[in-house]
Amino acid sequence: MSEAAANPIDRAEETDDGNRPGQKLALYYFSAAMVLFAAQILFGLIIGLQYLYPDLLYNVLDFSVARMVHINAMIVWLLMGFIGCIYWLVEDEAGRDLVGAKLAFVNFWILTGAVAVVVAVYLFVQIGPGELRSIWLINEGREYIEAPRWADIGIVVCVLIFFYNVAATFTKGRWSGISGVLVLDLIALAALYLAGMYFTPNISVDQHWWWWVVHLWVEATWEVLVGCIMAWGLIRTLGANRRIVTTWLYIEVAMMFGSGILGLGHHYFWIGTPEYWLTIGGFFSALEPIPLVAMVVHAVYDAGRHGFKSSNHPALAWLIAHAFGNFFGAGVWGFMHTLPQINLYTHGTQWTASHGHLAFFGAYATIVIAIIYLAIQKARGDVWMSGALPGNGFAWKWSLALLNIGVLGMTVALLISGYEQSFVERALEGSTWSAYFEAQQTPWFVQGMQWRMVFGWITAAGLALLLWDLATIGRRETRPVQVLNPVPA
Ligand code: HEM
Ligand code: HEM
Ligand SMILES: [Fe+2]
Repeated sequence: MSEAAANPIDRAEETDDGNRPGQKLALYYFSAAMVLFAAQILFGLIIGLQYLYPDLLYNVLDFSVARMVHINAMIVWLLMGFIGCIYWLVEDEAGRDLVGAKLAFVNFWILTGAVAVVVAVYLFVQIGPGELRSIWLINEGREYIEAPRWADIGIVVCVLIFFYNVAATFTKGRWSGISGVLVLDLIALAALYLAGMYFTPNISVDQHWWWWVVHLWVEATWEVLVGCIMAWGLIRTLGANRRIVTTWLYIEVAMMFGSGILGLGHHYFWIGTPEYWLTIGGFFSALEPIPLVAMVVHAVYDAGRHGFKSSNHPALAWLIAHAFGNFFGAGVWGFMHTLPQINLYTHGTQWTASHGHLAFFGAYATIVIAIIYLAIQKARGDVWMSGALPGNGFAWKWSLALLNIGVLGMTVALLISGYEQSFVERALEGSTWSAYFEAQQTPWFVQGMQWRMVFGWITAAGLALLLWDLATIGRRETRPVQVLNPVPA
């Protein structure tokens, strides 16, 4: 028997009754994630326009609040997307149904309800004093993870329940290399969230811990998480060899933690931490692109080895988009401003926003979308999603193109604005208050902001088409899924 056939995930259909609770639950998470993705883009369009028309919705929906909704919606939709991905893969990987499925469904509704309440409070209570009561009830004031304390505690409880569901399913079913890495990573991911709940009135200390969540999430635990999802996705779409994929995963994880943990120092340059962070942060974060190169090589190698023949073309295309997006958005765009000598000028400018957009979209949005395509394929009855789709796959191809062109275009526009801003505000004028405003009015800066909107609308069009495609793809398909012959090692 070949190795792939011995691994039941590669022949999951044999044990699958087609109605697994975890996979059903994953569809709930994916739906909630897509609603929040749409909200993210809607609020993104508003704040992008407010850069050009500062009076827009003034005192109705302030920039600070709309921006907060834009980035918090992103964090939450990506987390919900990841939870969906894990619920989607856990049963195939463990070879059994989800343990504690009822609890997991209740958990979903509690989490979704809490998110809705938090956003409603953001929108209804936009201004007011910042005090202990507001930290508990309204807003904690930590960028990206602004949720008030009550919601923080609720999120921790929900994550613990999720962790129980996943770990218990593997324990009662079967463990694998991928699931071992995944579960250890989930422990780290949840534990780091606690660092963002610590309250101190000292802004340097506060930032010090806050970065433990933001940096160590996106540059360590989330990267490992998507490494696991990618490994599994390649086995699923291509029939890639499990032993090879798992070996890559171990190498990538070792490198990721090797550079990502001390790479944290690139956020400690200017917040009042000791000077040695300049060296540590500069050195280790400069190494961070290396594992991302490995991930591109890994994905392209596997896809090439299988002649790009896949059981799900849209999913494979988005997995490849992830490998490149992660490399360029995080690796290249991150590397550009990670040395303290450069960061001195670019810190907190549109340069940062340029990197933030390409990295979050390229590394994380893409892979969630890939797994959603896999999930939809199964939900529509394990239908054909390889080449020769009706209409030549018009909707998935165009949504892929519009979303990627849109985000890439915004990234370049922001980079141009950021370049001008760093030059005028920092290099020429020396970071004064008036220099900040002078830079915002330079022609290149303003034109960058205009182009960002052009590409923002393209992104929005891509999203609309994506949602339409997800709602319709495979509905009228009669051909069964293409079965792949595993390629021996
Ligand atoms: C997928 C992984 C990554 C994501 C999602 C990401 C995202 C972000 C975001 C959103 C910010 C802005 C934070 C803020 O609001 O202040 C940021 C800052 C930064 N990132 Fe990344 N990043 C990633 C990986 C990397 C890598 C690999 C490097 C270096 C090689 C890097 C270097 C930096 C630096 C130096 C800053 C600080 C910019 C400043 O001083 O304003 N990032 N990142
Ligand atoms: C219609 C498309 C979008 C528009 C017009 C838009 C616009 C904006 C604007 C105006 C900001 C505030 C920047 C500032 O404070 O100067 C922002 C921040 C941000 N957006 Fe978007 N956005 C869009 C889509 C996205 C997407 C698809 C992602 C990622 C999946 C994303 C991730 C972020 C992040 C991470 C930040 C914070 C960046 C930082 O702190 O430097 N946005 N966006
Ligand atoms: Fe970082």
